[in-house]
Amino acid sequence: MRVVAVMNYKGGVGKTTVTANLGALAARRGQRVLLLDLDPQTNLTFSFFSIDGWHDQLKDKRTIRQWYDAEIPGQNTPLSELVVTPDRVNRAVGNNSGQLDLISSHLGLIDIDLELAARLGGATTLDGSKKKFLDLHDSLRQALTDPYFDRYDLVLIDCAPNFGLVTKTAIVASEFILVPAKADYLSTLGLEYLVGHCTELMEQFNDFVNHKRDGHHQPVRTDFLGVVFTMVQIYSQQVTLAQHHYIEEVRLNSVVPVLANKIRNSPRHFGDAGETGVPAMLRAGGRDDVLREFDGLTDEVLGALALSGSR
Ligand SMILES: Nc1ncnc2c1ncn2[C@@H]1O[C@H](COP(=O)(O)OP(=O)(O)O)[C@@H](O)[C@H]1O
Ligand SMILES: [Mg+2]
Repeated sequence: MRVVAVMNYKGGVGKTTVTANLGALAARRGQRVLLLDLDPQTNLTFSFFSIDGWHDQLKDKRTIRQWYDAEIPGQNTPLSELVVTPDRVNRAVGNNSGQLDLISSHLGLIDIDLELAARLGGATTLDGSKKKFLDLHDSLRQALTDPYFDRYDLVLIDCAPNFGLVTKTAIVASEFILVPAKADYLSTLGLEYLVGHCTELMEQFNDFVNHKRDGHHQPVRTDFLGVVFTMVQIYSQQVTLAQHHYIEEVRLNSVVPVLANKIRNSPRHFGDAGETGVPAMLRAGGRDDVLREFDGLTDEVLGALALSGSR
């Protein structure tokens, strides 16, 4: 099982769209995929469930909010009990061994995130606070070691555009971070901060692991898979000059690699915000430029993770 966090400090850069469509295409290629919605905005969840469906089936008993809402996340509810298999998308995935499952989010996750941060400060001794830090930050990674999750090839985590505790649990749990970004000043500006904060988190975590050496926690080593540029403006088969400039800037100056595949701006494909319960790329026809780009991205990501499922 490979775990990838999809994140960027900025909202509206395509995190949820990339998570949903990459997950769906990987499933169509036979991968067993689990999507984990950690954004209180719940957009990923609503890409697969109607608001009424979520209200009736998930809201009170089957969202990630229940899981984080404990002294140490997961103490009350095993993560596996929150997994659902949305039907419309799985019918579109087709008849192969692939599957797309989801752990849904909840608007109230934002409050839990703040509570968790407060709890972190609650310990009275240095040793106690290190233990608490490790237990909280490592909680999602520990939960994913449940043999239940061995059934998945790929877990994609859609993160909120912040560096709260919930996001930090996702980073510790992930082998890789995939960063969707628009090719503009603000989207690329945050990239170095993201790298800096992740590095800091890993250093602190690993420092505490080394001090405690109680066998409960292993060092964390999360790597950047790369930046995937989304909503790229294409004219006459070319990226516009202004955007080309930003992409080159990142390619030359950032420690995070730029993925070869980019996703063009296409309101026609992505304008309907999930009403059908099936990501756009599973509805697209065979000769479609955007599908070709997303297929390329799926090849690139699955290849980097050494998962099979290329076309
Ligand atoms: N390649 C694209 N072309 C056009 N619109 C897009 C594209 N990717 C995403 N969008 C739209 O842009 C908005 C923000 O995308 P979203 O994936 O929700 O971003 P984030 O999760 O980073 O906030 C959504 O309305 C989405 O449908
Ligand atoms: Mg989102």
